Amino acid sequence: MKILLLGKDGQVGWELQRSLAPLGEVLALNSCSTDYCGDIADLQGIAATVDTWAPDVIVNAAAYTAVDKAESDRERAFQVNAAAVEQLARSAAALGALLVHYSTDYVFAGDGTQPWQETDAVGPLNVYGASKLAGEQGIQAAGCRHLIFRTCWVYAGRGNNFARTMLRLASERDSLSVIDDQFGAPTSAELIADVTAHAILAACRNLALEGLYHLAASGETSWHGYARFVLECAAQAGLPLKVQPQAITALPTASYPTPARRPANSRLDTRKLEQAFDLKLPAWQLGVARVLTELNEK
Ligand SMILES: NC(=O)c1ccc[n+]([C@@H]2O[C@H](COP(=O)([O-])OP(=O)(O)OC[C@H]3O[C@@H](n4cnc5c(N)ncnc54)[C@H](OP(=O)(O)O)[C@@H]3O)[C@@H](O)[C@H]2O)c1
Repeated sequence: MKILLLGKDGQVGWELQRSLAPLGEVLALNSCSTDYCGDIADLQGIAATVDTWAPDVIVNAAAYTAVDKAESDRERAFQVNAAAVEQLARSAAALGALLVHYSTDYVFAGDGTQPWQETDAVGPLNVYGASKLAGEQGIQAAGCRHLIFRTCWVYAGRGNNFARTMLRLASERDSLSVIDDQFGAPTSAELIADVTAHAILAACRNLALEGLYHLAASGETSWHGYARFVLECAAQAGLPLKVQPQAITALPTASYPTPARRPANSRLDTRKLEQAFDLKLPAWQLGVARVLTELNEK
């Protein structure tokens, strides 16, 4: 199997380099790659890459992920998250390739307390969410073979993410305040990459498995609960902390204004994915504890 991996150095892209390797021949690119164009915003360049390499599977882990910046950078967010994805979908359709793509719970309005199902009405609150939704719709309209995974609260041992920020702040500051009225499941890039590899193999054997799925670790917490768990793990590992886990102040979203509105309810219902691919998604705490152990051992 020939696989084209785009966005190879992001949180998910990095883990995909590992999980896709046993599936076949992987061409992994980032936006600076020179042998082949890996800049997905370059529509002609990326179309030429797909035509030349002629992959069986295209995995797109590249995205514009700066949620707040997107509010004032709408054109670029839509170029990367929508126009580029539409081009990939057209190229995949022409080739008969499977396109694997990632989206987000930010396509939803974030109200209520029930986990979102794939069939629920969408209603993004911010430019990033709208651009990701346009990307999903571009894939569906192009009619290519596809797997779209909506995920949430992604973290990894590398890259910018909440868990690493909390560790740093708790070692530098005397106090820490974290929002306690937004809910979701911290989901590791490692889990997303492993499920992706499993799903690609299954979908190549059974075309009926293609479609849109929610992919997140099981369980739920708030950002405050997540921060507390991160610091509890750090304390157990003997890391010096200036802020103890139980001393983190809980804040309402309203007291922490950001350029982009965030959904309060980022819960994703993953039953469709688990049933289709015969998977059991692990509790969010397992992945967080594992990544923290790796970070602490460095
Ligand atoms: N992070 C989250 O919490 C989260 C939540 C829900 C869904 N998702 C989705 O999950 C997927 C993976 O996210 P992630 O957390 O791995 O994001 P990430 O760490 O920000 O990685 C995104 C990668 O895309 C690259 N990229 C940006 N513009 C590009 C372009 N024009 N051409 C090629 N590469 C480009 C970035 O490279 P540079 O850094 O060099 O620009 C970066 O390596 C994305 O589709 C994202 O929307 C993420």
